[in-house]
Amino acid sequence: MGSVKNIALIGYGVVGRGVAELLEKNAGVIEKRAGGQVRLKYILTARPRAGDVRQELITQNADDIFNDGEISIIAECVNDLEAAYAFCKRALVGGRHYVTSNKNLIATYGPELTELAYRSNVSLMFEASVAGGVPIMRPLYKCLSANRVNGIAGIVNGTTNYILTQMKREGQSFGDALKSAQELGYAETDPSADVQGFDACRKLAILVSVAFGSYVSYEDIATEGITEVTSSDITLAEQLGYSIKLIAMGRLAQGGRIYARVSPLLIPHENMLSMVEGVFNAVNLSTDTAGDLLFYGRGAGAEPTASAVVGDVIDIAAGGRYNDSVWRKGNGSLLPVEENICSLFVRAELSEREKLGKAFSGGVLAEVGGELGFITPEGIESETREKIRASQIKTRSIWRVKE
Ligand code: HSE
Repeated sequence: MGSVKNIALIGYGVVGRGVAELLEKNAGVIEKRAGGQVRLKYILTARPRAGDVRQELITQNADDIFNDGEISIIAECVNDLEAAYAFCKRALVGGRHYVTSNKNLIATYGPELTELAYRSNVSLMFEASVAGGVPIMRPLYKCLSANRVNGIAGIVNGTTNYILTQMKREGQSFGDALKSAQELGYAETDPSADVQGFDACRKLAILVSVAFGSYVSYEDIATEGITEVTSSDITLAEQLGYSIKLIAMGRLAQGGRIYARVSPLLIPHENMLSMVEGVFNAVNLSTDTAGDLLFYGRGAGAEPTASAVVGDVIDIAAGGRYNDSVWRKGNGSLLPVEENICSLFVRAELSEREKLGKAFSGGVLAEVGGELGFITPEGIESETREKIRASQIKTRSIWRVKE
């Protein structure tokens, strides 16, 4: 067997504990796959618990890690963005490989940090940052690296998918479903990051940057959450043959631009994304050579996320490297979202039927509980919205249908 790899863990919350447990539970296979023992030498935490089973590894002083020449890999599972940024910079500048589960860190500082990793000739890996235990980053930059990726469409936030599923299956209100997602530990510390789509938006920024080879800032991605989706929208959409999902999507558009958006979307029942329920995540990649691929699994929780973190650690220990050049290029140019071509789902009072019929020939209509659900024919989104406005159709909600 090869040499011992000493690693340090920064952050000892739900995910950090999961990482420590996994390193112990699967030590045998990890040693085989890493080509040597992976030894957890330090755990850095600001709030050690009295009597912790890993007491002898715990430190509150980051210098213990950074002054120890034996530490070549740092795994970090910290929620706080600026704290994670400081640890990451210090590690990379000091020539240490860095593994993170922090999507905010990569979405915000990806270009600077990958540049630092590149200069220091070390790896910065972040498989856990998108879709938790679902392998998606490595397939993108490694397994599918011979392909051109044309599009991504994914459910990358478990909390919102859980809420939408509960609203559909159990008829729960948005508030009750959110409360149970929080109790189950799926939601972010501030759940508005989930329900307003910010969490999915950061994950999408990472996905599109790697998939299309051009850095896209999360701040430039049009983002709508699920707070305005109602049970009536869900019921009418189901009647019409669709499920409503929070979809993070990106695709190559005309003129080499990138179309990227996070928003509720009606997904036809025959599309596999519509079948992804509860806390599960799924990401569909459309590629030019391997065709369409669907990655499905648990996107949140201690064990799935730890699986991704430890997978990165093993990869680095075994000699794998990632400090990709795409992050060091300029910002990808984004297509304005209103130029997208799609159908729109409109919910309205029954009295609007005639106006809808006049404005759009060839739409599809359903009626449930004294309301109409109407799917417009495909068109440029901004023009369809203008037609609805000009026809004075009183809408209760409007959502996009998957193009
Ligand atoms: N709050 C996130 C989710 C956790 O619900 O998917 C995983 O990133």
